[in-house]
Amino acid sequence: MNASSHAQTALITGASSGIGATYARRLAARGYNLLLVARNQTRLQLLADELIASHGVQVNLLAADLEQHADIEKVADRLRSDEQISLLVNSAGVALTGSLAEADIDSTYSLLQINLLALTMLSSAAAVRFSLAGRGAIINIGSVVSLLPERFNAIYSASKAYVLSLSQSMHAELSGSGVQVQVVLPGVTRTEIFERSGSSLAQIPPSMVMEVDDLVDAALHGFDQGELVTIPSLPDSNEWQALTQARLQLAPNLSHNKPATRYH
Ligand SMILES: NC(=O)c1ccc[n+]([C@@H]2O[C@H](COP(=O)([O-])OP(=O)(O)OC[C@H]3O[C@@H](n4cnc5c(N)ncnc54)[C@H](OP(=O)(O)O)[C@@H]3O)[C@@H](O)[C@H]2O)c1
Repeated sequence: MNASSHAQTALITGASSGIGATYARRLAARGYNLLLVARNQTRLQLLADELIASHGVQVNLLAADLEQHADIEKVADRLRSDEQISLLVNSAGVALTGSLAEADIDSTYSLLQINLLALTMLSSAAAVRFSLAGRGAIINIGSVVSLLPERFNAIYSASKAYVLSLSQSMHAELSGSGVQVQVVLPGVTRTEIFERSGSSLAQIPPSMVMEVDDLVDAALHGFDQGELVTIPSLPDSNEWQALTQARLQLAPNLSHNKPATRYH
């Protein structure tokens, strides 16, 4: 599916800020009507006013706290019932600082609810209805930390490894259904996520920090090219293909009736 189609609606979570708000601007420019999901309704309304004025698209708001099961279900119901929605962008997410040893149950619970449970249930609802319609697309925002878990916060990295794995499985399950799946792996991107999680961009070399407009524009180029995994910073996509090939080469040897000889 090409994202330039008209009169379709994109449902974007995390649309009040950062990457989600930038998707809203770019998709409105492509003619999409929007259903914007987040907690902060004041910010969503400001964005809606801007996009209605600049692009003449329809913009609706859906207040949801994606930590809450009832709110996840409310958004999933909308995906099941609103036949205008043909694109889901799962951008809502939170980060954590500190090691696993320092984890507290409240912030860990919040992260798992938003980064994993909400993304999973919304992807599931969209996959069912888009498959029945024979068209539609799901964009999940993962992270490059899924490829470097040794170097980052354990819980956040593991949550993003889940997003990558889920998206790869969804892509396989939905092949032939007409539903496109893309997972975007941003590197460090200038948004509020750092302040919100109690860290800062100040210690990160500027050469490693991408502006959010560049990130979303690159991700949408990848989407238009039908990529499953888009890594906007990676100069040579053959390196990702080589990693994927190496992983798949393990497949014939991952389940045998006897242990490998080195374990005898
Ligand atoms: N920035 C980076 O360097 C970077 C790198 C890799 C991946 N990512 C991923 O990119 C995605 C977007 O992050 P961002 O950088 O754009 O961060 P951001 O500017 O902090 O935006 C986060 C969005 O998530 C929403 N959100 C947070 N908690 C929520 C909740 N309980 N219920 C509903 N919505 C909630 C926020 O809206 P409300 O507060 O209004 O609810 C906001 O719209 C995340 O999945 C993040 O993990 C970011």
